[in-house]
Amino acid sequence: MSWQIEKQAYEYPWTKTIFNDCLQVGYCCWVIERGDTLVGYGVMSVAVGESHLLNLCVHPDYQSIGLGRMLLSHLLEIAVERYANMTFLEVRPSNFSAIKLYLENGFDEIGVRRNYYPAKMGQREDALILARTVVRGDEFSE
Ligand SMILES: CC(C)(COP(=O)(O)OP(=O)(O)OC[C@H]1O[C@@H](n2cnc3c(N)ncnc32)[C@H](O)[C@@H]1OP(=O)(O)O)[C@@H](O)C(=O)NCCC(=O)NCCS
Repeated sequence: MSWQIEKQAYEYPWTKTIFNDCLQVGYCCWVIERGDTLVGYGVMSVAVGESHLLNLCVHPDYQSIGLGRMLLSHLLEIAVERYANMTFLEVRPSNFSAIKLYLENGFDEIGVRRNYYPAKMGQREDALILARTVVRGDEFSE
């Protein structure tokens, strides 16, 4: 179940309500399974030529074996199919592995949202805003 993975993968996880809301409004929600086990998922909204990657998560036991990259590629393909031409996402500046993944997959930093995320001791952490164009015919490596 996505929420169980979420709690293990993030210090500040989404709530069940957020997952339910994403499903109810019809966002693109994809999962990766290994056998009968759900090991990762991605959530993306697509509307008016833009897609927003809202969550990309792989169970800690299955990280660094290529699943995050595969899921990201798949979501970018879906974005193109649904006529998006830009994809946006936010990421914590401290999330080095995620930033590396995104930069290697064509994203660039386009801005910062100050004090966007909760952080330790009641503090806040900025969000980096990353974006990339998605064009029909692009190769999204898998
Ligand atoms: C970010 C995340 C989705 C990456 O998924 P993954 O399956 O571990 O990543 P992959 O094995 O597909 O690796 C793809 C790239 O990610 C980066 N990466 C993955 N693990 C890494 C690590 N431990 N250290 C540094 N970079 C790493 C690398 O760029 C890697 O490419 P490379 O192998 O060619 O160097 C995963 O680590 C995760 O779920 N993290 C917790 C949730 C999260 O932070 N999500 C992103 C929110 S914006």
